[in-house]
Amino acid sequence: MHIERTTQKLGVIERYREYLPVTESTPVVSLGEGNTPLIFCPRLSERAGRVVFVKNEGANPTGSFKDRGMTVAVSKAMEVGVKALICASTGNTSASAAAYAARAGISCVVILPAGKIATGKLLQAFSYGARIVAIDGNFDDALCLVREIGEDSDFAIVNSINPDRIAGQKTAAFEIVDFLGNAPDFHLLPVGNAGNITAYWAGYREYHVRGRCTKLPAMIGFQAAGAAPIFHNHIVEKPETVASAIRIGNPASWKQALAAISESQGAIDVVSDDEILQAQTWLAKHEGIFVEPASAASIAGLFKCCDSKEATYSIQKIPERSQIVCTVTGHGLKDPDVITARMKKLEPVPAKLDSVRCAIGI
Ligand code: F0G
Repeated sequence: MHIERTTQKLGVIERYREYLPVTESTPVVSLGEGNTPLIFCPRLSERAGRVVFVKNEGANPTGSFKDRGMTVAVSKAMEVGVKALICASTGNTSASAAAYAARAGISCVVILPAGKIATGKLLQAFSYGARIVAIDGNFDDALCLVREIGEDSDFAIVNSINPDRIAGQKTAAFEIVDFLGNAPDFHLLPVGNAGNITAYWAGYREYHVRGRCTKLPAMIGFQAAGAAPIFHNHIVEKPETVASAIRIGNPASWKQALAAISESQGAIDVVSDDEILQAQTWLAKHEGIFVEPASAASIAGLFKCCDSKEATYSIQKIPERSQIVCTVTGHGLKDPDVITARMKKLEPVPAKLDSVRCAIGI
């Protein structure tokens, strides 16, 4: 049987080939990533008094935005004949790398901070068959180790220090412009290792240069209050936050993030764990979008811009008709523990109509 395409839904390489570092001879390793929904959010818009869209990256094959960069990084690794991948991760990169390695038929090593990875992500890395190494250290320590191992071995590093990852991730900005017909005025997103803010800004700029949009958004990044090196302008030795995905004290793309913020006349700000968890609940209950805590940082950030005098970027500065896009980076099911802790215990009722009616309150 001759199969022309290996997935029914085209992945980002097929859709944006001319913008990516691939050639006809690059073997495409894809799971149909990208093309995620950009959702107009009426209640969020009402609360902000502005037009707000949410780019739901949890709809990617492994449930996070990492897949966009991973398809490019793994395809390029296959092109040069690499036998194995390696990455450090707070969880999502490891899930994505493991999946794309499985798809490519090569092995994958993931170095993780012990006891600090959300359950769903760990289960993914395990299920896709990665070799998992847990270290007594944090993400920043893990990335240092990966850099060293990657330098003198046959591993391809697939963290966002690999430019192919950034190249793939910039396609999210392309999709937003393709859908809206222009760039939004403001783009809000969580910041951890700072690869994603770097990638979005690269994507918007590239589309602008090629005449695909006539304006550029202000990039506004949000770090968790206990893991906010860029905001405080110094390394955080022991980063702490409920949003485990962005528990990072020394981001690899720090400089690039600062450039994105200053060139776009944007800002970097912080949100507390409470604000993150409240935003997570609010988004699920009011817009039907369930995201993991790190992803809710962009929503918590929007609320802070609306409500708080302490916000680095006040919504007052944002004209009323302007369009805001908030990226939510990963699916809520990845981190069940954070919800389970807040869930009421279910008390079963008898399987009788009366009892069920009574429990419903009808
Ligand atoms: N949101 C989620 C759900 C993430 O997993 C990450 C990063 C970020 C936001 C921040 O993106 O690092 O590009 O600034 N996760 C990485 C990982 C570090 O290992 O999965 P960033």
